[in-house]
Amino acid sequence: MNNPRETIPLEDELGDVLDKAMGLAGVSTEDAAAQAGIELSRLQDALDWRSDLNCDEIGRLARVLSLNEVGLGAIASGAYPQPEVGGLPFCLYPLRMPHGIGVVNAYIVAECGSERGLLFDTGPGLCALRSVWPANIKYIDAVFLTHVEAEHAGGLCEVVASLQIPKAFTPPGAVSPCGQPLPDGAKWTGPYLTVTAFHTPGHAAAHNGYLVETVCGCQCRKLFISGDLLFAGSVGCAFYCRNRLRDSVRRVLGALPANAVLAPGHGPLTTVANEQRYNPFVV
Ligand SMILES: [Fe+2]
Repeated sequence: MNNPRETIPLEDELGDVLDKAMGLAGVSTEDAAAQAGIELSRLQDALDWRSDLNCDEIGRLARVLSLNEVGLGAIASGAYPQPEVGGLPFCLYPLRMPHGIGVVNAYIVAECGSERGLLFDTGPGLCALRSVWPANIKYIDAVFLTHVEAEHAGGLCEVVASLQIPKAFTPPGAVSPCGQPLPDGAKWTGPYLTVTAFHTPGHAAAHNGYLVETVCGCQCRKLFISGDLLFAGSVGCAFYCRNRLRDSVRRVLGALPANAVLAPGHGPLTTVANEQRYNPFVV
């Protein structure tokens, strides 16, 4: 990962963030517009990605929906900060794959210079994965799934067989014939890297995040694979439970060092400090 500051688009625009926020708050579009003193048609335009809302209106919506006003304003103006993400003590390879109308991320983490690595998620499947595979990585020691949606865990069995991956781990409760559950707090340790599972339900009932560190225990920058729990500037849809999603986000951000790099299932890399300061859903 050569670029120390990412410049790829956020996963969610203003309309997506407002839509998710109303869902999390249990507030209808009509009620949100009325409580914020905004014409309903103007809020509906924003939800349809045609926002003409001014700063005052954004501020009122943030207060009504309990959002971080600074972060929501930054998203509305297309100026959400993307922090410096270099300095990890290992090499991180984001594998960005088109899927439907969007892009999904898987990741390889490896000791720099090594042909061996760890794979986090499989993307839509083996074919897509091969199209973005780094030429220098020849072996995968283990694959860790954040959740088992098709866009993140596509073709797991085929990937495991084709790449001859000796271990595949899934979140507890996930149904997969090719992986074994890695419960909250469990560690996988290899010769250079250690991975700790964080059970992070909310987007899905069976959802894990993974903390990646070197085995030396040095005070180096850490990496957290966040799946569809937390994105730069947003969170995943609360398909399972909005309260659990909020709790999982709070727990992860509270447990990690401020300079830890977050690697989400969609959108650019970010950091704990950046999301604590600007993420609309973190207040
Ligand atoms: Fe996703």
